[in-house]
Amino acid sequence: MPEDTGKIERIGAILVDPARPLPERFRALFTLRNLGGPAALACIGRCFADDSALLKHECAYCLGQMQDEGAISMLVDVLEDVNQEPIVRHEAGEALGAIGSPQILNILKKYEHDPITEIAETCQLAIQRIEWLQSEQRAQEEGQISDNPFKSVDPAPPSLPGSLEELQESLLDEDVPLFDRYRAMFALRNRNDEPAVRVLAQGLQCKSALFRHEVAYVLGQMQHGACIPQLLETLAKLEESPMVRHECAEALGSIAQEGCLDQLRGYLGDRERVVRESCVVALDMGEHEASGEFQYCDGLVRAESSTAQQPSSL
Ligand SMILES: [Fe+2]
Ligand SMILES: [Fe+2]
Repeated sequence: MPEDTGKIERIGAILVDPARPLPERFRALFTLRNLGGPAALACIGRCFADDSALLKHECAYCLGQMQDEGAISMLVDVLEDVNQEPIVRHEAGEALGAIGSPQILNILKKYEHDPITEIAETCQLAIQRIEWLQSEQRAQEEGQISDNPFKSVDPAPPSLPGSLEELQESLLDEDVPLFDRYRAMFALRNRNDEPAVRVLAQGLQCKSALFRHEVAYVLGQMQHGACIPQLLETLAKLEESPMVRHECAEALGSIAQEGCLDQLRGYLGDRERVVRESCVVALDMGEHEASGEFQYCDGLVRAESSTAQQPSSL
């Protein structure tokens, strides 16, 4: 086995081991995402048999961010598997949109009217992203739309530049098509300033749960303290969708200001598993952020040190 494949297999063994602490499994996942390649994809793919919806949805997210067409078939399997939790199927649909290959349009179209609203909306957005990528409109917009300072692959491109008020109007108007509201969301996110954070935080009141979860996600990317009260308020709503509450918890973990982490500890016993587990992971990331430690994704380092201690177990 080549040296790199051996390393990847050892990190993959941490990822799929339910006896390991969740933060360690997340670190292993992020390390595999950074390494990339067929062996890393295969390790991540094995994780879809796990019983943590949070971990599986993160696996799907990472596969989308890697944009490797080698992951398409496993993501299609996850999207089509009705035994997978909706949050996991949603993330698989979004990841297919992120990979952006027109060959999966037919599959996405099978789910654009799915009875689970989050899945239907995700597939509609993925279809529109792929169509936009191929469109004449994209060629015209290139060079005008803003750069993403966070380097994520987003479910929609940012809209053409506009004033804060114009973007706010598109973001919050429930009559505007969801894809265009997402475009306004990413244009605001790319401004990366406090006025944009304040406008985005208002999006936590909008009707679509998928939209609210994406707002929480971008607020986590921006790591600005101005939206802490709205994130805490949404996390505290027990009637709110667990997918939205989970994303609020993770955003608070990445903002990691004093007070946020204490509040998150209060949800470690939440009745929703995906929220409890998000708090475990968010606290790990938040404590890392607060400590100023250099490298969060130290799955590789850990795998190598555990090899040294117990070579026979790997
Ligand atoms: Fe998501
Ligand atoms: Fe998520």
